[in-house]
Order: sequence, then C-alpha cells, then structure tokens
Amino acid sequence: MLLGDPRSPSHATATGPAPTYAEYLNLDQLLSVQFTRSDVADEPLFIALHQICELWFKQLLHECRGLQERLTAADLGQSVRLSRRILAIWSVIVSQFDVLETMPPGQFARLRPHLGTASAFESAQFRELEAVLGRRDAAVAVRYPPDSAARQRIAAAMARPSLYDSLLTMLAALGYLIPERRLHRDVTRPVEPDAELESTFEKVYADDGTAAVLCELFTDLDELVQLWRYRHAKAVERIIGGKRGTAGSSGVGYLRTTLHQPAFPELWTFRSQR
Ligand code: HEM
Repeated sequence: MLLGDPRSPSHATATGPAPTYAEYLNLDQLLSVQFTRSDVADEPLFIALHQICELWFKQLLHECRGLQERLTAADLGQSVRLSRRILAIWSVIVSQFDVLETMPPGQFARLRPHLGTASAFESAQFRELEAVLGRRDAAVAVRYPPDSAARQRIAAAMARPSLYDSLLTMLAALGYLIPERRLHRDVTRPVEPDAELESTFEKVYADDGTAAVLCELFTDLDELVQLWRYRHAKAVERIIGGKRGTAGSSGVGYLRTTLHQPAFPELWTFRSQR
C-alpha cells in the first residue's frame, strides 16, 4: 500500500500486515526512477542531486505549512521548534553544492545536449516555496499550463498570507504593535517596507524573549535561502562559466540578479536604527 502524498488532502491509511522496510518506503519505486539519457559518467549524480532537492522542497513545503499553523495559533514554542527544523533542512540542501561542485565542466558539457531546455528553473515546488516565503509575481504561475496542479498550487500560495505575514500575525497576538496596513494588507501583493515595523522589531529585540529568538531564526532562514542562491550561482559558474542556461536565461548573469534579495526586509533594516 502506498503512503499518501502529504500535500494531498486525503491520506491513505495503512492496513494489513506490518510492512517491510522496502515496502514502507516504496523503495522499488523510488530507486527505479533514475533514468539516464546518456552514457555520461556523472549523469546519475546530476539526477540524484535534483531528485533529492525536490524531495527536500516537498518536505520544506510541508514543514512551512505546519509552521504557519503554529504561528497563526500564537504557539511560540512549536514555532521555534519547526523553524529550527526548516533551517536544518535548508542547511542540508545548501551543503549539496559541495557534491555538485565535484562535477567537472566537461561532464556537464557532454550531458547538456541530452537535457534540451529542461532546467530546475521550471521547478514548481521551488516556485511554490518562494511564494510561501513571500514572493509575489503573477508572471511565475502563468509559465505552467492553465489547468495544471503546479499553476494552481503556486497561484494559491501567492494568494495566501506568506510565512512573514504569519510571523507578524503572531507578534500582534503577543501584544506587539503591527501597523494595521501591514496586518490586513493585500497578501497577493509584494510587501512594501514599513518603517513602523522596524520600531516593532526594535521592541521585540529589546524585550529579548522567545519572540526575539524566533525573529533571529527567521533572519537565519532569510540568510540561508540567500546563501543557497549564492552557492548555486557559484556552482553553476564553475560548471558552465558564462554560457547560457538550458532554460534559455543568460545563466550566471541571470542568477546574479536573484542574489541579495531578502524575503523578510524589516528584519534586516531595523538593525540600522539608532
Ligand atoms: C550542473 C548543475 C547545474 C547547472 C549547470 C545549473 C544551472 C542553472 C541555470 C543556468 C539556471 C538559470 C535558468 C536557466 O537558464 O536554466 C538555473 C536555475 C535554477 N536551478 Fe540550477 N543548475 C544546476 C544544478 C541545480 C540543482 C542541483 C538544483 C537543485 C534543485 C538547481 C536548482 C535551480 C533552481 C531552483 C533554479 C531557479 C532559480 C531562480 O530562478 O531563481 N540547480 N540553474
């Protein structure tokens, strides 16, 4: 029997005799979907790294959903616990670039013709994660076919409060002053940096309680996601230099434009006050 997709609303429930390890994890299926398209020695590594990333993206989406629930319920302790887990997962994903960077440029050059225009630029889970973190850009969802699950999930994530919105909801529930225009903002729009919110973070940090610990974990998360982008861009530079990407972008030039863009801006800017 198959375990339900944690993203789907209904979960299959296990019945019958206790499964073996391989049955429980569906290992026959899992280990039989690494199809190579060339005889390039590093292609299995290239596939494994992408598949592993996608599994972690799926898990991150699940954990972020759980974290948003706890934030909305003003459950500080569990919010801290889940934030730590999310950070640990991102750290693992970032460290995978150590493995990717062992791929010499020549190996990828030989593999590239077999990829066509396929690129993780098309990763729907990554786009959904960006939306959960706060990215609002209508151009993203429309890249996917109109009735596809990918398009619906990305559009839905961009229509829901982001992780940052949920953090602010919790801070308001804890008694911190969050500007009304921010608390009841149109969540389908990008956030506009707000100086009043900087004063709120100053107060949270001055109190130096668990809310401040949580804000630091959010800052760690924002930094780690930016680090992921940096490590990816440098790995790409090592492997393809200044060549275009398979999705057709300018490659490293495009990736550089995505660097240094915080998802939680006032958590950084309040530090320049006083
Ligand atoms: C040889 C290895 C890799 C190369 C050469 C590479 C190259 C690129 C390039 C050039 C882009 C820009 C879009 C394009 O024109 O294709 C891109 C985007 C992207 N890649 Fe990679 N990549 C590699 C490995 C990975 C891995 C292992 C992941 C993990 C899932 C990944 C995730 C992404 C994501 C999420 C984007 C979209 C970034 C954005 O638009 O902000 N890449 N990649």
